Parts: sequence; structure tokens; C-alpha cells
Amino acid sequence: MKKVYLETFGCQMNVSDSERVATSLASRGFEITPNEELADIFLLNTCSVREKAEHKLYARVGRIRNSGREKPVIGIMGCVAQLEGETLFKKISGVDFVIGTKAVGRVKEAIDRVLDGDRDVADLGERERNYDWSVSDAQRNSPYVAFVPIIEGCNKFCTYCIVPFSRGREVSLPASEIIRQVLELRRQSVKEVHLIGQNVNSYRPPSGSEPSAVAGGLTQSIDNSGLEKFRGATPFSKLLRAVAATGIERIKFNTSFPRDFHADIVDAINENENLCNWVHLPVQSGSNRILKTMRRGHTIESYLKKIDNLKASKREISLTTDIIVGFPGETVEDFEETVKVVEYCGYDAAYIFKYSPRPGTPAFKMADDVTAEEKTERFQRLETVQRNSQNKALRRYLNKTLEVLAEKPSSRVAEQLSGHSTCHKVVNFQGSAAMLGKIVNVKISEIKANSLYGEVAGIQ
Ligand code: SAH
Ligand code: SF4
Ligand code: F3S
Repeated sequence: MKKVYLETFGCQMNVSDSERVATSLASRGFEITPNEELADIFLLNTCSVREKAEHKLYARVGRIRNSGREKPVIGIMGCVAQLEGETLFKKISGVDFVIGTKAVGRVKEAIDRVLDGDRDVADLGERERNYDWSVSDAQRNSPYVAFVPIIEGCNKFCTYCIVPFSRGREVSLPASEIIRQVLELRRQSVKEVHLIGQNVNSYRPPSGSEPSAVAGGLTQSIDNSGLEKFRGATPFSKLLRAVAATGIERIKFNTSFPRDFHADIVDAINENENLCNWVHLPVQSGSNRILKTMRRGHTIESYLKKIDNLKASKREISLTTDIIVGFPGETVEDFEETVKVVEYCGYDAAYIFKYSPRPGTPAFKMADDVTAEEKTERFQRLETVQRNSQNKALRRYLNKTLEVLAEKPSSRVAEQLSGHSTCHKVVNFQGSAAMLGKIVNVKISEIKANSLYGEVAGIQ
């Protein structure tokens, strides 16, 4: 049996695609191996969001080629594959096949062709209509946490971003399919589902498969008339309520697009304990002038209004964000506006990136006029501001008891377990293997840079 080593770069959409590809290959005569020394086939699921991510790929293929072993088959999938297509055969020697983001259901066919002696095999075609979304529990990263894509692609075209080109237009999954998957995961004892997409709250299901149309028919526990009273609410908030009604223990969702983040999402969280108290809402910049040239569709005032509404929730919703520094035309004053926003919002975490020009995006034609040194300086300054603000923000968890899903043994300390709280913080605690997969009450005693530490106060 041929062994496949699958390596994933990039966002949760790629992680989710990898799980599905692994499921499909494992059921069709391949073995997925965690050990690259044993691999006959390398499959690299790539990211193109920043230039650095692409360079990493080129270096990685070089290392595989030069590893001194008998020539393995190398396949590239994901966003670099979709964007570069057959040019990858010229750019990186040793690549045998290229699979686009929509052709993930046909990886086996590509491998078979290479094994039959075909060279430079490329499939950038569309997804089949009856594409199988299921993921076997053996191929999920965690037995207790599962990703459920609800919307693919992106229509927003923020001027710096490659994703609409690498992932194509937004397509929402029918609510019936999402509910079916969540119910199935619940049967498999999965404790936490993440509804994922580039912009989950832009969810617009095909007509006839809206959450209210399917909810009543699919499960006894979902009361259709219950959803009816939310007529006029956004489809995403209705979907959240329908998924909450499946009774699965915890639901997280990521990423939210600020312009489409409406108050009814917060209402749904307030009214359903199993909708977790964490929202990732990428602000990108604190300057209205820059937000406009980024074409984000929100102003800083409208964004902060949403933040204030989230903060007013009785659920104590934890907030995280993404920020780009050094976008074309960003002045020191613009940057200072971003600093102010970070200080105001008190994010539990912020992912900060230096602007990276991506060929094919509208911003690529703008002068990349913030110098590399200045980008680094702004990056470091913002990291320091965020670290201080985060330290302050996280102190609110001290001596509090958080509900933590015990996910895995800690990689560093023996007899320590690691998991996530409902507010999506990494929490470490002393615990035994018997606790794995359980929701544990952990009283927080220590705040670290990127995690919390505490003692077990009970198991649910
Ligand atoms: N859909 C999500 C984000 C997808 S990409 C959203 O709209 O927020 C993840 C993050 O990468 C973005 O939030 C942004 O901060 C960053 N990013 C995207 N393109 C970038 C670029 N060209 N240079 C630097 N960072 C970028
Ligand atoms: Fe990129 Fe903007 Fe789409 Fe997010 S919303 S994926 S940043 S284009
Ligand atoms: Fe990267 Fe593609 Fe995700 S570009 S961030 S892997 S959608």
C-alpha cells in the first residue's frame, strides 16, 4: 500500500481540505502516514496569502528532493496550486502533480496518473456536484474537535488579498448538509464544532435550504416555529440557532467579516449556551483612510460600535483580530490610529502581519511605499502594545473557573493536559489521560504569554 505524507500550510480551510483528502485517500487504497521517512507520496497543501508562505513552499520541495531518498512523488494542492497551475512545473523542479482548490475530490486520480507514468499532471477543474464533504474521524486532527465548512471562497476583494482569486466566489453549503454533519459528529462524540469559512457571517444558503426550511424536518429537537420567530434575521444567525439546537456541546465559528457582523449574531450567542463566547473580527487597520483603500467595507466607527455591542454581552465574549501594518500609503498617523484601536479593544489575541504585495491583487499596483525597516518597526511596536494590552485583558481570567475541553497531553510537561476554553484560550492543567475528551472546570492560576494555566476544579 502506497504511503502518503500530507503537510498543510495556511488557514483552517486548508486544514479542513486536508482532512477530507486524507479521508478520501484512506478509503481508496492509500495509507496516510505521519512519518515522512516512510512516504512514497508527498502532498503539500499550500498557502499564498503572503509572499513568505510561498517561499516556504519552494524551500520545502527542495528539502524533500534533496533528502537523499528514492524519488518520492510530490503533489502540490491548495492556494499556490490554484494560482500558479502548470507554471509550478517550471518554477519548482520535481513537482509531479498540481491540484487546485476545487479539485480536492480528485487527488487519487492525479496520483494514479503519475504512478502510471504520466508527467506534469494538473487538475484545476471545478468541484463535482456530488462532492463528498464527509471526514472520517480517523483523519481528523482531533477526535473531539471538528471543522465544518459552511461557506467557501470570498467575494469581498479586499485590495491586498489573494483569497478571492485562489478560492473563487462565495458558495454556501445547504443548511441541511451542515446540520447533518453536526448531528453525525455529535453521534461520534465530538464535543466541539468550528463552523468555518473566509467570512462565515456572509453565509447565504441556496434557496430552499435555509436554516428555517430544514431545521424542523431534520431533527425532532429543532423547533421550526422556534426559528420562524427570527424572520428577517440574517441567515447566519439563523444557522447558528439551528446548529445550537442540535445539542452539540460547543460551537465556535471563524472568521467573521466586520461589515456583515450584525447584532443578531450576538443575540444568538446570548441565548444559546453552546454557542461559544469567542469572536474573531479582523479590523486590519485603525485608520479610515487605509480601510477605504483596503476596501474593507467598514469604518473604524462602525467597527467599534460592533465591538462595544459584543463587550456589552453578559457572556463575556473574548475578541481576537487580524491586523496588517505597512499597507501602501500608511503614514505614521494612520499607524497610530491602529495602535489606539488595539489599546481600546483589549483583544485576547491579535495576529499582526506586515503587508506583503500579492501579484494580481489591486493593491499590487499601488506603490509599496512603507520601507521594510518601517514595516518591521511598526510590527514590533504593535506587538508590544498588543502584548501589554493582552496581559491586562487576560488578567480578568485569574481565579476564574473556565470550561476547558481536554484535547491532548501537553507536548512539554508530563501529566499535563492541554485544551481550549469556551473563549478559545489555550489552557494547560495537571490531569490524567482519563480526562481526555471531557469538559473540565479549570480554575486559572497563571497567565502566560499565549496560554493560561490552572488547576482542575471538577469534571462535567
Ligand atoms: N477572511 C479573513 C482573513 C483571511 S486571510 C478576513 O477577511 O479577515 C488572513 C489574514 O491574512 C487577513 O486577515 C490579513 O490580516 C492577512 N493578509 C491577507 N492578505 C495579506 C497581505 N497581502 N499581506 C499581509 N497580510 C495579509
Ligand atoms: Fe481576503 Fe478580504 Fe476575503 Fe478576507 S474578506 S479573505 S481579507 S478578500
Ligand atoms: Fe492561505 Fe488559501 Fe487560506 S491563501 S490563508 S490557505 S484560503
